[in-house]
Amino acid sequence: MKELFKRFKQTGILVIGDLMVDRYIWGKVRRISPEAPVPVVEVTSEDLLLGGAANVAHNILSLGGRVYVAGTVGTDYMGKILIDRFRESGIGTDGIVIDKDRPTTVKTRVIAHSQQVVRFDKEMKSDISPATLSLIVDYVKTCLPDIKGIIISDYSKGLITRALIKRILDLTDSKKIVSVDPKIGHFNFYNGVSLITPNVNEASFGAGIDIVDEKSLISAGKTLLKKLRCKAVILTRGDEGMSLFEKSGKVTHISTCAREVYDVSGAGDTVIAAITLSHSAGATLREAAIIGNHAAGVVVGKVGTAVATQEEILESMKACKQ
Ligand SMILES: Nc1ncnc2c1ncn2[C@@H]1O[C@H](COP(=O)(O)OP(=O)(O)OP(=O)(O)O)[C@@H](O)[C@H]1O
Ligand SMILES: [Mg+2]
Repeated sequence: MKELFKRFKQTGILVIGDLMVDRYIWGKVRRISPEAPVPVVEVTSEDLLLGGAANVAHNILSLGGRVYVAGTVGTDYMGKILIDRFRESGIGTDGIVIDKDRPTTVKTRVIAHSQQVVRFDKEMKSDISPATLSLIVDYVKTCLPDIKGIIISDYSKGLITRALIKRILDLTDSKKIVSVDPKIGHFNFYNGVSLITPNVNEASFGAGIDIVDEKSLISAGKTLLKKLRCKAVILTRGDEGMSLFEKSGKVTHISTCAREVYDVSGAGDTVIAAITLSHSAGATLREAAIIGNHAAGVVVGKVGTAVATQEEILESMKACKQ
């Protein structure tokens, strides 16, 4: 493990996807508004966190990998924040296209007394323009010599299109690991990628099989493998861990190692980051999936979209042998 982890810092991973800001507004409610029957939240603090594909990139960084990012932000304040956050973390921003026709995707949660009062989203879901697509593809070309793997983090906010994936697969020509965290509705974009990490809902939809028991789970995993012609399907199953389906026909179930669960949001981002980085650095798919499962177990034990470190993964491995 230690040898593998050492290789992470020379392992370049490009994250392409829908960048987001996860904004949390914390406060207290003491009265109902005189203007409408809604609570008045007295704001006490605000957090701005890297979300969506930006969280995947943050996870690669935290795991000790070398990360490159491609995506879009708007010409707005939150776009500046996102770029500043990347710079502060030491992540290059050359692949971030500032698109004047699209806002930066922001998900704002207002939380009072530990309860979400409302969430509001600012986003544009239509496909990126041909000009933006071509800037992204140019950036991919410049990165290619420095990277071993590409993560496509699809949140269905317009960046990931059939055309973009086709260009990526043509450029990589099966010489890089290309992994996808999929979204329902886009499964027919992903033909020919190396690996995919759907959750149960996404896998059911992608395979056209309702996953209700072990038998349907296995047939959904195998159907996706065949349909997408990929090397591996890693089906994430929430508190039941994950199941790895390999091209050889082998199926491996990995149970969860989380000891305490506080917040499951963002676990999928950690899974794709840890698995792609590990496999790109030379781990087998099975080893990579086990590392991904430990990393996810670490982040569900933290509040807010979180990341895991090598030390935390090693600790989790010691505490929970599989
Ligand atoms: N309640 C839980 N208890 C323990 N581990 C969990 C729990 N939820 C998620 N995990 C871990 O996180 C991994 C990914 O979770 P899940 O299957 O919910 O993915 P997801 O739906 O894509 O998540 P996301 O909300 O980030 O998109 C699981 O395979 C497991 O390792
Ligand atoms: Mg997910």
